[in-house]
Amino acid sequence: MTTSKEPLLSLDRLSVRYPVGRRKTLTAVDGVSLSVREGETLGLIGESGSGKSTVARAIVGLAPVSGGTVRWEGKDVSSLGRRERRDFVESVQMIFQDPHSALDPRRTILQSVREPMDTMGRRKKSERRDVAVKALEDVGLSAQMLDRYPHQLSGGQKQRANIARALVTDPRVLICDESVAALDVALQAEILNLLQDLKDEYELTVIFISHDLSVVSHLADRISVMYLGRIVELGGTEDLMDHTLHPYSEALLSAQPLVDPASRGERIILRGDIPSPLSPPPGCRFNTRCPHAVASCRESDPQLLTITPGHSAACLRIDELHGLGVREVPT
Ligand SMILES: Nc1ncnc2c1ncn2[C@@H]1O[C@H](COP(=O)(O)OP(=O)(O)OP(=O)(O)O)[C@@H](O)[C@H]1O
Ligand SMILES: [Mg+2]
Repeated sequence: MTTSKEPLLSLDRLSVRYPVGRRKTLTAVDGVSLSVREGETLGLIGESGSGKSTVARAIVGLAPVSGGTVRWEGKDVSSLGRRERRDFVESVQMIFQDPHSALDPRRTILQSVREPMDTMGRRKKSERRDVAVKALEDVGLSAQMLDRYPHQLSGGQKQRANIARALVTDPRVLICDESVAALDVALQAEILNLLQDLKDEYELTVIFISHDLSVVSHLADRISVMYLGRIVELGGTEDLMDHTLHPYSEALLSAQPLVDPASRGERIILRGDIPSPLSPPPGCRFNTRCPHAVASCRESDPQLLTITPGHSAACLRIDELHGLGVREVPT
């Protein structure tokens, strides 16, 4: 592992808001701060609608940054010069959530994989085919697949082609948004192994998004848990799994299938659905579903605080629930 201390990519109080109708505003991401260190795999988890994809889309410029900053190697990406911007665009690649719609049905697999190089004018035209073929080989797709169209490929093959497409610009960061969610369990394992191999071969830093904690925990060095547009817990994978701090993370963890179910505590069933980000509850956003909520949780909005080194959480009752001496250090 080549993890260095300097963050390669960082988000500083990033917010993404969408106007809805004439008067309303939906806050999909609300003040998210995150640092991604070179060489690490950062997992992003949370229920549907928690804002995971929007964070990813804001990083690559596909969602509006309404507040806060995205930094690449310390520089605000909104003020990059032409050359730096191009470096950023090529260096941060995203594999989209839906493998079926991500490939153009009218293009062959080779054309789709070549396309990022054609668009960016990257490399000599004569080299592009070879680079695309090498990327397709690296993801396990043989030469027979080159001239096929997406509808002629299985779900797993399509996802491999999407990954190949993301590799041809020599990225440093790969954002995988629910990259295995649409696949059956055996294929999921294959693609996860492939991503792990590619991470080593291409020396990638990975942001791995999933609603499935068991998938994320296999790959991630650190995990960030999102709820209703906010980060509620962030920590090293083992630390977060063994010393879970936030009641929401506890609920996600308790819902995971375990090899030894006897080793698990009681399963926490969350009441109701995630509230609408159009009208988030006052106080702690999780209070409407939290089994530990008290009156103050409906009034005060908890900040993300460092609880133990490298492990932070946003919960007003953390001290009472865990008997920890909370250091009041905003993360
Ligand atoms: N373009 C948009 N316009 C308006 N609202 C949006 C837009 N994109 C996302 N949202 C809303 O923002 C919130 C966060 O959505 P997002 O897709 O980021 O969640 P997610 O965590 O990726 O969920 P999932 O697990 O279902 O993929 C949701 O309430 C969603 O409806
Ligand atoms: Mg999503």
